[in-house]
Amino acid sequence: MATVFPSDDPKFAGQPFSLQEYYASCYKNGSLTLLFLPISRQNQNILHSPTHAASISITADVPSANRPRVSLLGSVTVFNDGYSIPNVDFIRRCYVAKHPDAEWWLPDDEGSAHIAYWARFDPHSVYFVGGFGGIHYIGDIPLPMYREAYRNDSDSRIFVNQHNP
Ligand SMILES: *[C@@H]1O[C@H](CO)[C@@H](O)[C@H](O)[C@H]1NC(C)=O
Ligand SMILES: *[C@@H]1O[C@H](CO)[C@@H](O)[C@H](O)[C@H]1NC(C)=O
Repeated sequence: MATVFPSDDPKFAGQPFSLQEYYASCYKNGSLTLLFLPISRQNQNILHSPTHAASISITADVPSANRPRVSLLGSVTVFNDGYSIPNVDFIRRCYVAKHPDAEWWLPDDEGSAHIAYWARFDPHSVYFVGGFGGIHYIGDIPLPMYREAYRNDSDSRIFVNQHNP
């Protein structure tokens, strides 16, 4: 995930910042589920951004110049302080299935060391690098095509249909 430090940050104003983050693909339209810990630098940047902006990049299992990767630009909706995320039971199951170790810092866990909220990342732009230009497609992916793609992905289709009919 990449975010930008706010313009009044004492040390890193306006600088980009990126770090690995967990996400889970729990929606049929390609929006992503995040566990939002307000304490993290990344999430502080998101909260200070007027549009809660972030970018998430996803690569092939083994990243390499000739393998596909994608950059999603979008915004984060945080479900905090009384606003609960719709279908919370499904979201929890889906997220923990992808990240079993996150069981220890889930929202609503009284014994957890940190405050955590569910959050949803909604992409507004999708930039795809298929590999090498000339051989592979490099460029924007229309949002409707991105949102529809789960239908043709047997893994996500089986999972989403089993858990969220
Ligand atoms: C994707 O679906 C979820 C759940 O229905 C919805 O809340 C979210 O706004 C959708 N994302 C976009 C980008 O429309
Ligand atoms: C999904 O598969 C159908 C049938 O094979 C095809 O017509 C359609 O273009 C595919 N959609 C995407 C987004 O790949």
